[in-house]
Amino acid sequence: MRAVVMTGIGGADRLDVVERPDPIPGPDEVLIDVAVAGVNFMDIGVRRGIAWTEMPNPKVLGVEGAGRIAAFGEGVSGFEVGDRIAWVYKPGSYAERLVAPADALVPIPDTIDDRTAAAIMMQGLTASHFATDFYPVQPGDVALVHAAAGGLGQLLTQIVKLRGGSVIGRVSSEAKVEAARRAGADHIIVDSEGRFTQDVLALTSGEGVHVVFDGSGPKTFEGSLSALRRSGTFCWYGPVLGGPGPIDIMSLPKSIKLGYAVFFDHIPTPALLRERTARLFDWIAQGKLKIEIGGTYPLAEAARAHADMESRHSTGKLLLIP
Ligand SMILES: NC(=O)c1ccc[n+]([C@@H]2O[C@H](COP(=O)([O-])OP(=O)(O)OC[C@H]3O[C@@H](n4cnc5c(N)ncnc54)[C@H](OP(=O)(O)O)[C@@H]3O)[C@@H](O)[C@H]2O)c1
Repeated sequence: MRAVVMTGIGGADRLDVVERPDPIPGPDEVLIDVAVAGVNFMDIGVRRGIAWTEMPNPKVLGVEGAGRIAAFGEGVSGFEVGDRIAWVYKPGSYAERLVAPADALVPIPDTIDDRTAAAIMMQGLTASHFATDFYPVQPGDVALVHAAAGGLGQLLTQIVKLRGGSVIGRVSSEAKVEAARRAGADHIIVDSEGRFTQDVLALTSGEGVHVVFDGSGPKTFEGSLSALRRSGTFCWYGPVLGGPGPIDIMSLPKSIKLGYAVFFDHIPTPALLRERTARLFDWIAQGKLKIEIGGTYPLAEAARAHADMESRHSTGKLLLIP
């Protein structure tokens, strides 16, 4: 099979397409023919040496996708060869074939195509965690969503709106305004330098927002803090783009609540993974959640997908097609 490996820590030029033997499923594992692999900032983080450093190089990148069951290891029940399934947080997805534990798989309903299924695994479950668990958005809440035209930002915007909130979206360029608007953002601020706070305060009669969703790196942190109203919530989530460094807790203003939200806490068990993915599939089937595929790339062009995401030119979800 072909797979995309990182040969070492560095830029997109450290990705190589190689031939490898097909993996063999062990007990309780399944061999999957990968139809679609999702591209996530996390993959860029792995490539930059921020995560999975304990796994030796060359390692196959990618953590999510959709495909078909090709074979089983011992002890697997409840699946047939040919079943359509999706997964998240399983290393090695930038490949034609992948072995994953059976309990990490979710069945894809007939109403959902492979690309849509792959697109919502990481970013959909993450957005669902942030807006329904970490900060359960209430009707009337105003949310500030950073990178609102990105895959995660578009889904967050839609889930906030589904729950009766309104959204101020921040994007880095005029070229992204339409994508954020299509996702349902009520107001859009164009800013890539961390100067958005005054605009947010002006849009909220000086009060600030109920919740900020910010994974956009150190440049936005202070501004996001200042854009919150009293007792507001700061949902911080971006280890790859970087954090603010150590914080003196006594410097936090206005009784705000600040936390690092991690998508895995939404799906800590196979039952919750299935339940919460099924809710996303239902929202899509009912037309409540729309997925914008911002780019599809052949597997061999994974480096171009990384470069597009890192250069801040992409919108929506990027996918690799083996
Ligand atoms: N904590 C968790 O559980 C979790 C889960 C998934 C993702 N994440 C984090 O969420 C963020 C988005 O990741 P994603 O995979 O979901 O992709 P994504 O939403 O498609 O994000 C891409 C967006 O990131 C922004 N961006 C790109 N390069 C940037 C840079 N150098 N500085 C600041 N912003 C930049 C761009 O928005 P603008 O150009 O409009 O600013 C772009 O639209 C990442 O920080 C990732 O680590 C966290």
